[in-house]
Amino acid sequence: MTDREAELQDKILDLKKKRNAVILVHNYQLGEVQDIGDFIGDSLELSQKAARTDASVIVFCGVHFMAETASILSPNKTVILPDTHAGCPMANMITAEALIEKKKEYPGVPVVCYINSSAAVKAESDVCCTSANAVKVVESIEATEVLFVPDQYLGHYVASKTKKKLVLWPGFCPTHARIRPEHIAQLRKEYPNAVVVVHPECKPDVIALADRVFSTSGMIRFAQQEGVREMVVGTESGIIHRLRKENPGKRFIPITEQAVCPNMKLITLEKVLWSLEAMAPEVKVSEGIRIKAIAAVDKMLEAGRAE
Ligand code: 13P
Ligand code: SF4
Repeated sequence: MTDREAELQDKILDLKKKRNAVILVHNYQLGEVQDIGDFIGDSLELSQKAARTDASVIVFCGVHFMAETASILSPNKTVILPDTHAGCPMANMITAEALIEKKKEYPGVPVVCYINSSAAVKAESDVCCTSANAVKVVESIEATEVLFVPDQYLGHYVASKTKKKLVLWPGFCPTHARIRPEHIAQLRKEYPNAVVVVHPECKPDVIALADRVFSTSGMIRFAQQEGVREMVVGTESGIIHRLRKENPGKRFIPITEQAVCPNMKLITLEKVLWSLEAMAPEVKVSEGIRIKAIAAVDKMLEAGRAE
């Protein structure tokens, strides 16, 4: 760690106490940002933490939909996203208006919406899911047909695990779409003993070649198992920092240097400090949308944890 980073971290931790703030950090954040987090996790864990914290302020080191979810769950807290430009291109591939139109084509078919979506889209959905519980959530629905939005690849993965018919929205994560089968083929030659783990946002041809499929925190837990010594990590590269920090002596190999989410990397220590000083930019979901969206988020949280 540089002297500058250490100085920024000290200032942040000091100001955080004065503001009665909690810092929630996604597994894809920069290493130095992860290191100042009160809690680091996947989308499901972060939404559970946002629902339960006693702090008055939530500083969300992640992307916009995550801060919105925190605002949905904790309307009386100030939710800060240190860079308002930190959006999710996949979440932007669907709008509430477009979903309303689609629902007309499938009357009565329940909508399961990936948490990587705006609050307005959640408000038009029956239940949310994350990559950690998508199969469980879809299975928990009584209907035999489900409209799954917006990630077609996560939807494809879920469809392979359930008998239900999934109608897929054509969204995708541009970062995970850069992971290709050739990357796995090459790394299997270089590291024949490594277990290949990928995220369900990867394309089906990548998932077909992997040994295991996990959400980011699913990968963190899997890496802790004694038998896992070498792991090819098929997701955004920020997670490597945590994997190496928590598992000294084990080897973690990024699947490709191209698996970087530029939006996740917009959050820096400087911006975290400035945002705590200014108590901005704030993310606040309007009450009309929040009331509709919380039903879908609550239903997901009730469905509980999964791999
Ligand atoms: P999880 O951490 O929930 O697996 O999500 C991955 C992701 O792409 C978040 O933007
Ligand atoms: Fe969105 Fe993909 Fe970035 Fe996650 S990694 S925030 S899904 S673009």
